[in-house]
Amino acid sequence: MTIHIGANPGDIAETVLLPGDPYRARWAAETFLDDVKLVNDVRGMLGYTGTWRGQPVTIQGSGMGMPSLSIYANELIRDYGARTLIRIGSCGGMQPQVKIRDVILAMTASSISTPSRGIFRELNFAPCADWSLLSAAHAAATVRGVPLHVGGIYSADVFYDERPDLNELMIRHSILGVEMEAAELYNLAARHGVRALAVLTVSDHLITQEALPASDREKSFGSMVQIALEAAFEGVHDG
Ligand code: HPA
Repeated sequence: MTIHIGANPGDIAETVLLPGDPYRARWAAETFLDDVKLVNDVRGMLGYTGTWRGQPVTIQGSGMGMPSLSIYANELIRDYGARTLIRIGSCGGMQPQVKIRDVILAMTASSISTPSRGIFRELNFAPCADWSLLSAAHAAATVRGVPLHVGGIYSADVFYDERPDLNELMIRHSILGVEMEAAELYNLAARHGVRALAVLTVSDHLITQEALPASDREKSFGSMVQIALEAAFEGVHDG
């Protein structure tokens, strides 16, 4: 047990999927995993462990924003031995070619600040995805025919942004989408020598102002979960 995770030692798999929303953790675990067991419900931040194609997997809610994700990722890595962490989340599209429901693989994550800022001080560290996960996720999405974009994203500190010029700047610098967690996940993975990737579904669009209807969310998010699982266990087949 840690301060924020009530799981027993050994209850958490080396591979962890991290949706922001704890209810999405429950949905993904019940939909995609076998032999599912609830391993954490401290603060309602649900975590489940089960198996996928016989491989142990944990799906743990991370909460919204980098400070919350940092708490869960730190405890998962340092106390429970997580070695592969894949964020599965939503993002706002920032380029005209990026459409609602498309999937983005975040190669890098720009930010104004992250919880690691105080550690890096003058260093502009470049948080980036693990290559083996990124290339495996790309292959999995391509086989599935999922509309896919690979490139830089923006991890924002605020959802209700009072600085529209920042979004414009990101758009002008080819940033594909905006979310609120990936940069710190990548910082932590680098610090602890583990693998990380953010697989994101475009749920709304900053240019067109479109938003994914609630009824379509599950199906669209399902592709993202499958891509994440196939990337984590590249080469593991059914049966
Ligand atoms: N901004 C920040 N985070 C998000 C967004 C957004 O527009 N959409 C989904 N996550």
